[in-house]
Amino acid sequence: GNKVSIGLLGLGVVGSGIMELIESHQEELVHQLGCSVEIKSVLVRNLDKVRNVSVQQAFLTTEPADVLEDPEIDVIVEVMGGIEEAYQYTLEAFKAKKHVVTANKDLIALHGTELEETAREHKCDYYYEASVAGGIPILRGITDGLAADKIEKVMGIVNGTTNYILTKMTNEGMTYEAALKEAQDLGFAESNPTADVEGLDAARKMAILGRLAFSTDVALSEVEVNGIKDLELADLEYGEKFGYTMKLIGSAECEDGQMEVSVQPTLLSNDHPLAAVKNEYNAVYVYGKAVGETMFYGPGAGSLPTATAIVSDLITVMKNMRLGINGNFSLKPRISATLRSSEQ
Ligand code: NDP
Ligand code: HSE
Repeated sequence: GNKVSIGLLGLGVVGSGIMELIESHQEELVHQLGCSVEIKSVLVRNLDKVRNVSVQQAFLTTEPADVLEDPEIDVIVEVMGGIEEAYQYTLEAFKAKKHVVTANKDLIALHGTELEETAREHKCDYYYEASVAGGIPILRGITDGLAADKIEKVMGIVNGTTNYILTKMTNEGMTYEAALKEAQDLGFAESNPTADVEGLDAARKMAILGRLAFSTDVALSEVEVNGIKDLELADLEYGEKFGYTMKLIGSAECEDGQMEVSVQPTLLSNDHPLAAVKNEYNAVYVYGKAVGETMFYGPGAGSLPTATAIVSDLITVMKNMRLGINGNFSLKPRISATLRSSEQ
C-alpha cells in the first residue's frame, strides 16, 4: 500500500525520539520506500503523563491488545524495556505475523536466539540494531560489513552511562553521584541504573556482539563482570597523573568454540584509541583476520541517536516487505557453530 503502519510499545526517551525522527525525516522515508510511515498507536503505562512530543495523530493506550491485535499494524517497535512483558508481547506480535524491531538488550541477551527462531517460523523479521551501542551500526557492521572475514576479537566501550560518569569524574572532578544524576537526566541511564553501573548492561551487549561475531551463545552467569561503582575519584586522578584513563572495557573472544566474555574497569594508556572516547560515546573495536583492526565510534545512548538505529531497522523491514523476503534476513550469526568447529 502507500502507507506502513507502526505500533509503538513505549514512549519514553527512545520512543519519543522515534516519533520525532519519523516526522522530521518523512521525506527521506518516502524517498527510500515509496510510501509514508505512520505511527498508528502507542502503548504506555500512564495516559496522564505530560509528553514532550506531539502525539496528536497517534492513539495512546494502556491496553496491549489495541496495538498487538490491530490488523492494520504491520510492524511493532518495542521500546518499553523490561523482560517478561516485552517477551510476551514480542511472541504475540510474531504470532499475529507482525515484524518486530527492538532496542531491548536485556531481552535479546536472554532470549534472542529463541525469539529469532520464532520470528523465522512465522516469516517475520526481528531486528535489534539499537540494542548495542545506540546509534552505531555495529551489528550490521559485524554481520554484513565484515561478513567475509573471520573475527578474532571484539572489545570496546559499550555503556554510555558509565563512560559519561567516568569522563565527568576524570575531566571535571565531578562526584560519582552527581555524574550519575546527569546521565539519568540526559536519558542515557536505564530506569534502574544498577545494570549500567554494575557492568551488567555492558555484559549483555558483549554477549550479543559475541554471538553475532562467533556464532556462539554465552550464559550471562559465566560472564566475568565488574562495574564502576566502587571506583574512587582518587583512583582516576592517580591514573591520570601517569598518563592513563579509566574505562569500562568489554571484551569477547573465542577459542576452540568456547567464547570468553568479560567486562572490567581498565586503565588505558592515553594514546590508546579507546582512551579518547568521552561522555556517552561508545566505540567497538573489531579485529578480523583479514581486515585487521577496525573501530566503530559514535553516540552509544540518547534519544535521537538510538532512534536512528530503530528507524533504519524499520526501513530494512519495509524493504524486505516489498520484496516478500521477511524472516530470511534477520541478523544471523555469521556461520553456524558446527561449521566453525568442524573447520578447526
Ligand atoms: P523509558 O523509561 O524512558 O521509557 C519506557 C516507556 O515504556 C515509557 O513510555 C513507559 O510508559 C513504557 N512502558 C514501560 N513498561 C511498560 C509496560 N509494562 N506497559 C506499558 N508501557 C510500558 O525508557 P527508554 O526509552 O530509555 O528505553 C527503552 C528501551 O530502549 C529499553 O529497553 C532500553 O534499555 C533501551 N535503550 C535505551 C537507550 C537510551 O539511551 N535511553 C539506548 C539504547 C537502548 P510511561 O511513559 O507511561 O511511563
Ligand atoms: N543505559 C544504556 C547506556 C543505554 O548507558 O549505554 C544504551 O543502551
